[in-house]
Amino acid sequence: MSITSEEFRASLGRFASGVTVITTKDSNAHLHGLTVSAFCSVSMNPPLILICIQKTTGSHHAFEQAKCFVVNILEESQQDVSNHFASHLDDKFTGQNYHLSEHGLPILDNCLVNLECNLKNSYDGGDHTIFVGEIENAKFSDGKPLTYFHGKYHKIND
Ligand SMILES: Cc1cc2nc3c(=O)[nH]c(=O)nc-3n(C[C@H](O)[C@H](O)[C@H](O)COP(=O)(O)O)c2cc1C
Repeated sequence: MSITSEEFRASLGRFASGVTVITTKDSNAHLHGLTVSAFCSVSMNPPLILICIQKTTGSHHAFEQAKCFVVNILEESQQDVSNHFASHLDDKFTGQNYHLSEHGLPILDNCLVNLECNLKNSYDGGDHTIFVGEIENAKFSDGKPLTYFHGKYHKIND
């Protein structure tokens, strides 16, 4: 028994999530970033997280090559940042607010959280690859997250 893609979207779209932008650098020092909601915590000891990236995205190869990446958890005012990094552009970083880490990875400014991760493992996940990262450095601030539910952005009102 299996489900249709419509049933998959209708069901999984009802799971509310935050929104992240995952960034890295490829072997030619070209910067990559894409919007990802498939992010979750895996383990506290050691501190592991996972992200899922569709194999057909332009930056998938960069995350396969990279030894490290950054998870930037977006703050509620950063809907435009999410839309920007969800678009197909050769250079997604010109005009964006970011700085480079010690390892030369792009860290987006004004986010709720920035997690610098070392790639620990990757696994086949159907049309996605599951990347597991070990958190090396965490920066966080007060504020509220941008959330995504039923194909739309939302803000937490409480
Ligand atoms: C809210 C939102 C969540 C997304 N979540 C994911 C995700 O979890 N994994 C993924 O591979 N793409 C996700 N995408 C789609 C990518 O951001 C999009 O395909 C992007 O253009 C890929 O960029 P690239 O082709 O330059 O690598 C999401 C898009 C949006 C707007």
